[in-house]
Amino acid sequence: MPVNTSNMELFARCASGFEGILAQELKELGMRQVRPLKGGVSFCGGQEEAYTACLWSRVATRVQLVIARVPASTADQYYKGVATIGWEKHLTRGSTIALGAHGTNASLRNTSFAALKAKDAICDHLREVWGERPQVDVRNPDLRIDIAIHEKKATIYLNLSGESLHRRGYREDGVQTAAPLKETLAAGLLLAAGWKEISRQGGVLIDPMCGSGTIAIEGALIALGIAPGMLRERWGFEAWALHDEMTWANLLANAATAIETSPGLRVIAGDIDDHAVSIARENARRAGVTSSVQFYVDDAANLNRHIRGMRKRGHKEGLLVTNPPYGERLGTQRELLGVHEALAQAVNVLPEGWNCAIITPNVAIDSALGRMPAHVVECYNGPLEVTARIYDGAQSQRSCEIVSLSGKRKLVPVGDERSEQFASRLRKMGRERAKWARRNGVSCYRVYDEDIPEFRLSVDVYREAGRHDDRCHALVREHRRPRSLSEETARRRLFDACAIASAVFDIDYACVHVRMERDSRVQGTQAELIDVEENGLIFEVDLAGRPDTGLPLEQRGLRFLVRNDASGRSFLNLFGSSSAASACAAAGGAQRTVTLEPYADRARRCRRVFKKNRLGNKAHIVEEKEAGDWLGQTLRKGEKFDMVLCVPPVWMPTLDMQALAPRILGALNGGGIVILAGSEPIVVPWLKAFESQGRTTENVSARVQEPDFLRSRNPLSCYVVR
Ligand SMILES: C[S@@+](CC[C@H](N)C(=O)[O-])C[C@H]1O[C@@H](n2cnc3c(N)ncnc32)[C@H](O)[C@@H]1O
Repeated sequence: MPVNTSNMELFARCASGFEGILAQELKELGMRQVRPLKGGVSFCGGQEEAYTACLWSRVATRVQLVIARVPASTADQYYKGVATIGWEKHLTRGSTIALGAHGTNASLRNTSFAALKAKDAICDHLREVWGERPQVDVRNPDLRIDIAIHEKKATIYLNLSGESLHRRGYREDGVQTAAPLKETLAAGLLLAAGWKEISRQGGVLIDPMCGSGTIAIEGALIALGIAPGMLRERWGFEAWALHDEMTWANLLANAATAIETSPGLRVIAGDIDDHAVSIARENARRAGVTSSVQFYVDDAANLNRHIRGMRKRGHKEGLLVTNPPYGERLGTQRELLGVHEALAQAVNVLPEGWNCAIITPNVAIDSALGRMPAHVVECYNGPLEVTARIYDGAQSQRSCEIVSLSGKRKLVPVGDERSEQFASRLRKMGRERAKWARRNGVSCYRVYDEDIPEFRLSVDVYREAGRHDDRCHALVREHRRPRSLSEETARRRLFDACAIASAVFDIDYACVHVRMERDSRVQGTQAELIDVEENGLIFEVDLAGRPDTGLPLEQRGLRFLVRNDASGRSFLNLFGSSSAASACAAAGGAQRTVTLEPYADRARRCRRVFKKNRLGNKAHIVEEKEAGDWLGQTLRKGEKFDMVLCVPPVWMPTLDMQALAPRILGALNGGGIVILAGSEPIVVPWLKAFESQGRTTENVSARVQEPDFLRSRNPLSCYVVR
């Protein structure tokens, strides 16, 4: 049967998240039966439509022609299905092909196998029809054949566009800036932000962090009506047997006449890095948009200098679109702070009503801008999950007026409308707790502990020891959010909370440390150690520490108890996560202490704390051992302790307490005690394990609970086992 080239089934692929934008674009280009699906848009059209999509789609990465759907329940069935396609109608002798597959099923479990099998089927078919097999060129083929395997079916496509459509041809390989945005993603962002309409009305586009200029150049191409494929020199369809050169030539000629001839200035783009700007200029020259883009080298914070003349030149409408650096890690806000502040300053000088769109993985940008996005597109920039955040220019900056504990008044931008409520709570609690802490000589304490259900986080304040300027740090920790709260909202509130905490406590924002509940990027970050003082002793706190800082504030009362009761006793600390308690025991006059800490860095920290407090003598040792191993293998026969501290770590729920309890009790002197502490759910099974050994237990929780943790969901429980 001949191929019906006037009504073909086509599929345009795009970055996930941009299917809706691509569907809209294809409709505007005149495609029929446009249907957005996952990862792309299906549509119908003839050859002209297929070529139009290749030449004109700014968002599609690939345009494919569906040539067949074949059953693929077994590898054999799949092979036969591919071999029966009339390949001679699509492929031309002498052209090279390459095959790529994605998706798997029970029989085709490997995409390379599926591609190979299909290649064999095509070669076998063509050998029969042509008497020769087609040439395969995996790297640089004339025509690519794509296969998508889904459940019991395989869909076979010809890739009409060829090499990915993001390769427009204006970027020179190897001389680009770090982290350039793909051209198709930049265009998708611009279209999602409404640049097409704004540019039609003579508006101007600004990218104050332009890097290699992708957003600026794509913006200019849109404004000037230049087809994104104009510079491309090679297309997949050129090797397609049914290629219609006349139709293509007409399309190219029409595209050339569609270009705006007296463009004027349409885009302003700057970067703090002059090297980036020179690359961007060169890219713009190659793209043929030089006369429409004005580049400059400057900090985004100084954007006002560069847009002053815009309105005078008659540009009433405008749009800011940018792709700021993402910051390598989010342990502290330090890396992002400068970038976000500069961006906020840029956005604040935009004329009223101008929209802006920012592509970033960092929700913290909302807090810095004091704006909540009107629209968020979740997408990927390479392997990174990011969001395209579109802010409505009609919305003014939201801010809270904060009077700090020292009476300073400050306007703090916040992204969330509920953050004002949080700010008043934090200020109230901050005032009360600061007074309490001063009276009791406490320098590290909890101020806020999920007091408002919509703000599931805690705020702790740490005063750094040994400084003349009384420098404080805040640690803002995200707790598990309820299902009713979206991750996006919870994050926005978390970053608002950071900005508010910085203002309430007069803490430099770089000293506000944020800990997200679930963020792999924070794992393994470098320690951020500060010294703090508690009860006359110096401790090290790791504000980037996971899962805790090394000085659990909720255990302050426990440390007092240990210190008070340790005099003249031998002390064993089973789980070094509470190693600060060992220094307390030593300072309280314990005759000797042994601390077990399997992690080398924590063990080193524990030794440093002994040293800093001049407790480092041979009577106080830290063993890099796990408690069970040490009790079973290292503990000398007859070696006993008067006091054993057992604070089981929450991140080791697999500890076998039934096996450990008798060993722990075996290490006790007659009359010795075990102090068991932790949150109730952790402690109860241990308590049962000790009780099953016939021991009596006494609940001493009231002695160790501290005022700043009384409202905690999981207050510290403490038992003495005799
Ligand atoms: C992720 S890159 C932008 C990449 C760009 N979209 C592209 O496709 O090449 C971020 C850019 O922001 C710039 N930048 C960082 N801080 C800046 C600031 N305060 N003002 C202006 N540019 C800044 C960096 O020099 C870098 O080129």
